[in-house]
Amino acid sequence: MIKLQNDLFLRACKKMDVERTPIWIMRQAGRYLPEYRAVREKSDFITMCKTPELAAEVTIQPIDLIGVDAAIIFSDILVIPEAMGMKLEMIESRGPKLYDPIRNADDVIRLREIDPTKNLKYVLEAVSLTKRELNGRVPLIGFAGSPWTLMTYMVEGGGSKSFSEIKKFIYNQPKTAHTLLHKIADAVADYLSAKIEAGADAVQIFDTWGGLLSPLDFEEFSLYYIEKIISRIKRKDEPVIVFAKGVHNNLKKLANCGADVIGLDWTMELGKVRSQIGSKVALQGNLDPTILYANKEKIKAEAVKVLESYGNGSGHIFNLGHGILPDVLPENAKFLVEVVKEESKIFHR
Ligand code: CP3
Repeated sequence: MIKLQNDLFLRACKKMDVERTPIWIMRQAGRYLPEYRAVREKSDFITMCKTPELAAEVTIQPIDLIGVDAAIIFSDILVIPEAMGMKLEMIESRGPKLYDPIRNADDVIRLREIDPTKNLKYVLEAVSLTKRELNGRVPLIGFAGSPWTLMTYMVEGGGSKSFSEIKKFIYNQPKTAHTLLHKIADAVADYLSAKIEAGADAVQIFDTWGGLLSPLDFEEFSLYYIEKIISRIKRKDEPVIVFAKGVHNNLKKLANCGADVIGLDWTMELGKVRSQIGSKVALQGNLDPTILYANKEKIKAEAVKVLESYGNGSGHIFNLGHGILPDVLPENAKFLVEVVKEESKIFHR
C-alpha cells in the first residue's frame, strides 16, 4: 500500500483536523476539459468507460489540470443497469438511453443478478490501474447511483421531464418496485464493496432524483435502500458519502443513514444544515455550478460565502452543488480550486 501524500479529503470526511478545506468537483472528469474532449473524440463514452487505460487517463486529468484534492473514477451510474442486461446508449447532446425500459414484474425477473467481479470487471480494473497511476498523490473515490435514481432511469428509459412513468410504476405496482429496488441495492452494495477492494479510498452514492419524492416516499423508496447498501458495504474505514439532490425535509434521517458525509446542493444553507446535522456527519458542497460562468471576482466572493457559511473547523469538503457544466471555462474551475485552497486556511487555525 502506497501512503497518500495528500489525505485532506479523507481527514475532512472523518472530521479530523485539516490545514485547509479540501475540494473536488462532481463531474470533474468531463467535457469542459479540452483534454477530455480530445480523448472522447477518438472513442465513444461507453468504450471509454470499458477501457481501463482511457478511464484512468481522464480520471487523472483534473488532478493535473485543475488541482483538486481527490480523484473520482471515470465511469457512469448506468453501468449497473447495463450489467443487469439493459442496452445502454449515450446519445450525443441528449443524454443516456436505456432500451426496453422496465414496466412490470416480468421485466424485473429478466434482469440479471450481477457479480461485479465478473460483469463489471472493467470498472474494477480501471480503479486499480488509476490507483497505481495516481501513485498516492490524492485519494480515489468510487461511486454508484442510489437504487431509486437507478430505477428512475431504468423505468423512464433515460432522462425525463415529467417522470410520469416512474411515478406510475411506484404508485400502481409498489410491490414490483420494491422487488426491483432490492435487486438493485444488492448489486450496488456488492459493486461498492468490490470497488473498495480494488483500491477506492471512499465511495459516493448519487441520489440525483431523491428530490422527486415526498418526504415519506423518499424514506420508503430511496432512503431505506441507501441504508441497506451502507450497512452491507464491506469496508475498513473508507468513508461513505451520500449526495441526495433536492432533499430538504429528511436531513436528520439522512444524517442517520450510516453515511460519514452528506452532499448538499446549492439550494441549502451550509451553516444551517451544519447546525442541524453537523455533529453527526461531515458536509460536502455546495456552490451553485453556474457561478463558474461568472467573473473571477464573483467566483471568489461566492466561494468565500460557502466557506463562511460552514464556518470554523473540519468536516467540510468543498464541492459544487451538482456536476460541473460542459461549457464552463477550465481556468474558472482552476481558479475556484486556488481560492478554496487559500481562503479556507483561516477556518482551520
Ligand atoms: O464525476 C466524475 O468526473 C466521474 C464521472 C461521472 C460521470 N457520470 C461521467 C459522465 C459520474 C460520477 C457520473 C454520475 C452520473 N451519471 C449521475 C449522477 C450524478 C449527477 O450528475 O446527477 C447521473 C444521473 C448519470 C447519468 C448520466 N450520464 C447522464 C444524465 C448523462 C448525460 C448528461 C450529460 O452531461 O451529458 C451522462 C453522461 C456522462 N457521464 C458524461 C460524463 C463525463 C458526458 C458524456 C460524454 O462525454 O459525452
